[in-house]
Amino acid sequence: MAAPRPPAPATNGIALSKKDEKKHKSAPLIGIDIGGTGIKGGIVDLKKGKLIGDRFRIPTPQPATPESVAEVVAQIVEELSSRPDAPAADAPVGLTFPGIIQHGVVRSAANVDKSWLDKDIDALLTARLGRPVEVINDADAAGLAEARYGAGAGVNGTVLVITLGTGIGSAFIFDGKLVPNAELGHLEIDGFDAESKASAVARERDGLSWEEYSVLLQRYFSHVEFLFSPELFIVGGGISKRSDEYFPHLKLRTKIVTAELKNDAGIVGAALEVALNRKLAE
Ligand code: BGC
Repeated sequence: MAAPRPPAPATNGIALSKKDEKKHKSAPLIGIDIGGTGIKGGIVDLKKGKLIGDRFRIPTPQPATPESVAEVVAQIVEELSSRPDAPAADAPVGLTFPGIIQHGVVRSAANVDKSWLDKDIDALLTARLGRPVEVINDADAAGLAEARYGAGAGVNGTVLVITLGTGIGSAFIFDGKLVPNAELGHLEIDGFDAESKASAVARERDGLSWEEYSVLLQRYFSHVEFLFSPELFIVGGGISKRSDEYFPHLKLRTKIVTAELKNDAGIVGAALEVALNRKLAE
């Protein structure tokens, strides 16, 4: 009996030939982080998990419809491709998106334009860029990058990366591998969607002191800790740099640390995801 066929890759993008796989192996790749206020990209050295050269950022167009975002992504790819260190013109590009991404399709749009719902973002960007792409949830990208190059490197068992920003993003990592699309920012806590009360933007909106905010974070992290008993929490997002304001107030049995890749985690994670999925990195 013939051996069962391996499952098809979870992408609608253009597949790489064996020859192309070899050509791009371990070479730098472009990563792009699509956010609510800015879309930023960089050329990623996948051995070091660091950017080669500067990030390139363009404000997110408003409204952030699929077509207008695709246009900005194309401008960023064009700028990065004009640099001397640019990856080959046919090398795949990794992207993040702030919603659930399953098989290249957007399945949630909590903090983004609702016209993204059910959009095949992989097909849209593959067509616009004319090269293979891979799209991953933004927090998942940050988690992947932290697990390989940052605060989660070498940690076995369950590591939860929680990003506090406009929403609350989460990445579930087990033994260094990502379990995609964990949406722990939307756990219902005390009758509310957690991110509506405990995100960084909610803190600003509600004018909370760090001490008041810590009470919400305590409630959030102890609930997540109870559900998953992780080995480690890694906190990312803009306010991770203010962690000395709220970490001292948190009483958890789980170690909690800040993310190490800071602003570049999404870009690096997006490039890493495309490299792992297309066997361009191990
Ligand atoms: C979305 C997640 C996303 C997070 C951070 C949440 O509202 O549901 O998919 O990762 O915001 O952007």
